[in-house]
Amino acid sequence: MADKRVISPETEDNGEESLEKSLRPQYLSQYIGQDKVKSELQVYIAAAKKREEALDHVLLYGPPGLGKTTLAMVIAHEMQVNIRTTSGPAIEKPGDLVAILNELQPGDILFIDEIHRLPKIVEEMLYSAMEDFFVDIVIGQGPTAHPVHFPLPPFTLIGATTRAGLLSAPLRDRFGIVEHMAYYKEADLTDIVERSADIFDTKIALEGAHEIARRSRGTPRVANRLLKRIRDFAQVADQKSIDQLIVAKALKLLQVDDRGLDYVDQKLLLTMINYYDGGPVGLGTIAANVGEETETIEEMYEPYLLQIGFLKRTQRGRVVTPQAYAHLGIKFEPKK
Ligand SMILES: Nc1ncnc2c1ncn2[C@@H]1O[C@H](COP(=O)(O)OP(=O)(O)O)[C@@H](O)[C@H]1O
Ligand SMILES: [Mg+2]
Repeated sequence: MADKRVISPETEDNGEESLEKSLRPQYLSQYIGQDKVKSELQVYIAAAKKREEALDHVLLYGPPGLGKTTLAMVIAHEMQVNIRTTSGPAIEKPGDLVAILNELQPGDILFIDEIHRLPKIVEEMLYSAMEDFFVDIVIGQGPTAHPVHFPLPPFTLIGATTRAGLLSAPLRDRFGIVEHMAYYKEADLTDIVERSADIFDTKIALEGAHEIARRSRGTPRVANRLLKRIRDFAQVADQKSIDQLIVAKALKLLQVDDRGLDYVDQKLLLTMINYYDGGPVGLGTIAANVGEETETIEEMYEPYLLQIGFLKRTQRGRVVTPQAYAHLGIKFEPKK
């Protein structure tokens, strides 16, 4: 269900990935927003290049769709090194990891997406690889089994995860550079939409770009997806340039409201208001009512609602805020 939402921060399976590739900036100077992350990385990259060393290991964490994979590739471009991309669940056993490490050239980047999902035994092998550039492996079985010390070239591990707290402390501690990716400001998302429209060779009015930005949940992936859908609307309507009106029309049809909420967000909030008097409601109860896993609610639905102040976390559960009532046009009555 979640993956059918037009405002889902996760990639869709319908070729969106190749679309994203074409929209990816290549250099830090083209990477819009995230100013703090960018300026820090700029320094680390320049220093590593000056010393002719591999960049320190980098951990990127933050909600899906904010540009972690993109940034890993930008870093590789800036460092002028190769990048090898894989993910936590794809590395099933130590042998898989050794095969990948074995192919790295000095200075190369290994990008592990969803690094919190690495099997424990693989994770433990990474410790020495990251710290001292070697792994100890056991070759053979039974009486012929013997340990082999396997040196590695100096490399950079870039790990991406949705929450730093999902990582074990020993793994987290081995990253010299830890960067938090925050939701984008509307002005930055407007720039991203304009840049993408340019790549699509589509005309867009500033107000149109701004309207898309406002409804994109602070997330470039969502902004690009909405732009793509709206472009189709404009084309069918024979409209040369995307303006605010066609954005509003298209998003009405796609059931995305003017804060970027869709029917699932609305259902979530309305259920809490109508059946639980606005809360506090436990995460598990919310999940059961909306028909989703607790984890899905926590990772994909709730962060944006918390971010815009429509939900609040309390000791006893989630609470709907007066702002959310106002947005939904429901009268808020403070509890006695
Ligand atoms: N800072 C940015 N500037 C321009 N485009 C961006 C930026 N961050 C992300 N994007 C776009 O958003 C899409 C999703 O980014 P991605 O790196 O795949 O996110 P994540 O790995 O965090 O889920 C990419 O296609 C990319 O083009
Ligand atoms: Mg990614």
